Amino acid sequence: MDKNAMKKMAAERSVDFVEDNMILGLGTGSTVTFMVEALAKRVKAENLHLTCVCTSIRTADQAKSLGIPVMALNDVDHIDLTIDGADEVDANFQGIKGGGAAHLFEKLVATTSTRNIWIVDREKVVDTIGQFPLPVEVIPFGSQQVFDRLLKEGLNPEFRTTEAGQRVLTDSQNYVIDLHLGQINHPHLLATWLSEQVGVVEHGLFLDTVNQVVVGSPEGVEILTA
Ligand code: A5P
Repeated sequence: MDKNAMKKMAAERSVDFVEDNMILGLGTGSTVTFMVEALAKRVKAENLHLTCVCTSIRTADQAKSLGIPVMALNDVDHIDLTIDGADEVDANFQGIKGGGAAHLFEKLVATTSTRNIWIVDREKVVDTIGQFPLPVEVIPFGSQQVFDRLLKEGLNPEFRTTEAGQRVLTDSQNYVIDLHLGQINHPHLLATWLSEQVGVVEHGLFLDTVNQVVVGSPEGVEILTA
């Protein structure tokens, strides 16, 4: 079974957790795209009243195009549930996000949300996170200095670029530096260190955040609860 089929299975199952009148956070990425499609079907079929807060311009555009009401994070007083993708998650429910460069908004929405569900294909469930490059969003001003500090620290940084060789810009017009670490044995220590670096806006370590992980696999969908 290909990855997309596994992502779709997890995405479609996750919308079962949505209840009428919820304020719902919508993540970003290819798995979330399947989820938003499935959500729109439920909204129509059951006439659900939802308010959705989106973690990227991409997701907001998709949600609006499917008739799902969208509000800004600043205009809600809470979020009941957020459904998002992830790049890696370990057995302790610690994860890496930001493969789609949306981790700053995703973390803001996730930390506002009472519950967080991640939807992933089986290949993203790992023993130790870090094989997936860890995204770090940095402001362009002085970003070379931040890069050099990450390099000196032995964190194997690389500016993320488009196929055309341009630096990727986030929705906040910042750069992304990916850290090629192989494995992250002490995610809390690394998260604290990265958060202390001037010029770093946010990193993609999502620690002690997720409540449930919905995993799609050829055997079916499994729900892991933290
Ligand atoms: C977006 O920045 C990310 O955090 C995504 O949620 C993550 O990269 C998962 O993306 P896919 O669902 O496309 O694999």
